Amino acid sequence: MTTARRPLVAGERVLFIDSRERRYLVTLRTGKQFHSHMGIINHDDVIGTDEGSYVRTTKGGRLIVFRPTLADYQLKMKRGAQVIYPKDVAMILVEADIFPGAFVVEAGTGSGALTLALARAVGDSGRVVSYELREDHHAQALENIDAWYEGLGGKPENLELKVGDIFGGIEETGVDRMILDMPEPWDAIGTTTESLLPGGILCCYLPSIPQVSQTVEAMRARGFDLISTFESLLRTWNIDGQSVRPDHRMVGHTGFLITGRKLAGAQDL
Ligand SMILES: C[S@@+](CC[C@H](N)C(=O)[O-])C[C@H]1O[C@@H](n2cnc3c(N)ncnc32)[C@H](O)[C@@H]1O
Repeated sequence: MTTARRPLVAGERVLFIDSRERRYLVTLRTGKQFHSHMGIINHDDVIGTDEGSYVRTTKGGRLIVFRPTLADYQLKMKRGAQVIYPKDVAMILVEADIFPGAFVVEAGTGSGALTLALARAVGDSGRVVSYELREDHHAQALENIDAWYEGLGGKPENLELKVGDIFGGIEETGVDRMILDMPEPWDAIGTTTESLLPGGILCCYLPSIPQVSQTVEAMRARGFDLISTFESLLRTWNIDGQSVRPDHRMVGHTGFLITGRKLAGAQDL
């Protein structure tokens, strides 16, 4: 299967990227302009071109235009709560084994960054339900998710956002994978994880080690095995002539990840 060329159209989101790789997320609208310190770009000059084209500003500046990747969008979208960084999203998708067709429950939704990645990974045949305690965070996540799916046929029906406190338990059963990105997941383990199928994976994302200890203890006490704790450190490199070295800056600490698999039940072996 090949993908046909798709010139940029009015109504879609693009990234303008300058020579210092600063990124500007813009929705193309007929007759509108993009203003920056580098000058003005008329959207009409961009509509109809291919992504990957250079665009000149009125001051002679040069930017490049691309459709944003999901990771670009996750970092640029409005935040109610801190989003999970792409390097950690990537680890979650693999280590929590989010597969096409999976039924995934998540809490809390926050800004919806991880939710978007989960929805994409489970595909049309899967299902994602995301719980969020705070109405304002729920509303922001919904806005971000609707904006991402604008022009893509709208938010899929198999992605559901709910306002609710996960400590009170969840309505769903037969869950394959559960992801908890919230401050005190240990209080949810036991009640909500009853909904996980045997062999199901629980994945928790936490910023500090005391939280990790408490969560791992709760998982051990509540019928999980193969518990694994790790973090991901992403070091980018500068490759330019003789200058071949790690970049001077990197994102230091974001969070720790814990995964564990649910046992089948009380066993006396
Ligand atoms: C760090 S944010 C999640 C960010 C999200 N993963 C993202 O990538 O955008 C944590 C969220 O958990 C929510 N939360 C905290 N306790 C909760 C609970 N008991 N039930 C549901 N959501 C909860 C908070 O309101 C907050 O929005």
